[in-house]
Amino acid sequence: MSFKSIAIDGPAGAGKSTLAKKLAEQLGFLYVDTGAIYRTVALKVLWEKADPSDPAQVVPLLEGLELHMGYDSDGVQRMYLEGEDVSAAIRRHKVSGAASQVSAIPEVRAFLLDLQRKLARENDVVMDGRDIGTVVLPDADVKIFLTAAPEARARRRLLELEQRGEAANYDAILHDIRERDRQDETRPIAPLRRADGAALLDTTQLNLEQSCDRLLSLVKEKIAL
Ligand code: DC
Repeated sequence: MSFKSIAIDGPAGAGKSTLAKKLAEQLGFLYVDTGAIYRTVALKVLWEKADPSDPAQVVPLLEGLELHMGYDSDGVQRMYLEGEDVSAAIRRHKVSGAASQVSAIPEVRAFLLDLQRKLARENDVVMDGRDIGTVVLPDADVKIFLTAAPEARARRRLLELEQRGEAANYDAILHDIRERDRQDETRPIAPLRRADGAALLDTTQLNLEQSCDRLLSLVKEKIAL
């Protein structure tokens, strides 16, 4: 039996996780948030007080890394590090920067490649990340490049933080988004770019519902559901 895969790539804050998760729910597919896996590796590096930008410090930590994924009954992906549920801890600001740094290390990417491919071999998946359509699943049934203008992504992030009652500053967020785009787009290995054959979905002018509808229709153009 062959499983279907949908690859969704795009920059930080484009709404990938929200939209990919919703799409997976609609289709009854497994949702795989690959950024969360990189974040978990980054958290381990921070736990060990190692420098996330230094391969000599990061690579030895991969051996024996106790990283597991699990799913709640409602399909929410959870990450475990050394048996501890770190799903909330990996969302911290410090971990975002460290994840971007560890993800530029070739050995880290190679280490996570098998894990990601195995999930797609054994399940129908909606997988989101930066290199899913280009590297991890180049033969995915559907490839989407999901993006939005940096200013729109910063406004959404600001709103999200305000709703959570966290202090936030628009200029700082915008600066951070641009910096992460730069890091993710310019790294030599698996840089963020639109895969061959990927449909472009720009959500700058779309609200959540419109984005979901558009995404579902792009998927339906490619696969019979
Ligand atoms: O999507 P996110 O913000 O949770 O991802 C965290 C970091 O991980 C991001 O800076 C880039 C990296 N990443 C990657 O290099 N490849 C992926 N497939 C997913 C994430």
